[in-house]
Amino acid sequence: MTSPILVTGGTGTLGRLVVPLLRDAGRDVRVLSRGRQQPGNGVEHGTGDLLTGAGVESAVAGVETVLHLAGGPKGDDEATRNLVRAASRAGVRHLVYISVIGADRVPLSWLRSKLDAERAIADSGLAWTTLRAAQFHNLVFTMVEKMAKLPVVPAPGGLRLQPVDARDVAERLVELTLGEPAGLVPDLAGPGVYGLAELTRSYLRGQGKRRPMLPVRLPGKAGRAYRAGENLTLDGADVGARTWENFLAERLPAAG
Ligand SMILES: NC(=O)c1ccc[n+]([C@@H]2O[C@H](COP(=O)([O-])OP(=O)(O)OC[C@H]3O[C@@H](n4cnc5c(N)ncnc54)[C@H](OP(=O)(O)O)[C@@H]3O)[C@@H](O)[C@H]2O)c1
Repeated sequence: MTSPILVTGGTGTLGRLVVPLLRDAGRDVRVLSRGRQQPGNGVEHGTGDLLTGAGVESAVAGVETVLHLAGGPKGDDEATRNLVRAASRAGVRHLVYISVIGADRVPLSWLRSKLDAERAIADSGLAWTTLRAAQFHNLVFTMVEKMAKLPVVPAPGGLRLQPVDARDVAERLVELTLGEPAGLVPDLAGPGVYGLAELTRSYLRGQGKRRPMLPVRLPGKAGRAYRAGENLTLDGADVGARTWENFLAERLPAAG
């Protein structure tokens, strides 16, 4: 009998895609999140909070592989340090982590905390694999959906994105989780590079709406980093199969 794979954040956008793929691969899964969930179909649920450390010891007990997806707007560094401490004590043999492209190059505090989380894992003595992915289609969709509610839509000049489908990220993470520890692997980006204004316009078209756009300039060092494309991986990335246009056609059938 093999030990279960612990998926932190297994109830989130990415986690909900990863868990059934691991089950399809014949692996038992234990999910850790703060909310209560019903167990079933080879999936155990542990309630715990990586930020306070509550429930983390019991979540890692008897586990050889951890796929760490839990994350939030802040504190991913602290949460990851708590997980790493518990995983080291429990004798975990492989910790797989999802980070964000640009964590090492764009000076924003949430990206800094992703980078610190990456470092906590790399320095832990545990065997590890880290994948940096671009923004998921779902996240970009939510972003442009909110912006399109405004009477005038801000269009930050020079801000480009390489949105990737969360299903492609989930598939890659499952491969990495079932494989040998590989360190920092090539980034995973989507197949196209788009200006944010272009993404918003395609959403508006799909909704049959029009909005005036107001060019704005992103301020500060982070603005400069985005204009320089530090949030992109144009060379050497692995590329997801599903395009923004495919995703939009699924979410807004009139756009197809
Ligand atoms: N979304 C993107 O575009 C994107 C791009 C690249 C990388 N990533 C990374 O991918 C990961 C997953 O993203 P996602 O979009 O799937 O996030 P999500 O939908 O917000 O899900 C976050 C998950 O983490 C759990 N969680 C949050 N805080 C926790 C805590 N303190 N202790 C235990 N569990 C906690 C949540 O469950 P509870 O709320 O029940 O605790 C939930 O299951 C994150 O690390 C994110 O940084 C995301």
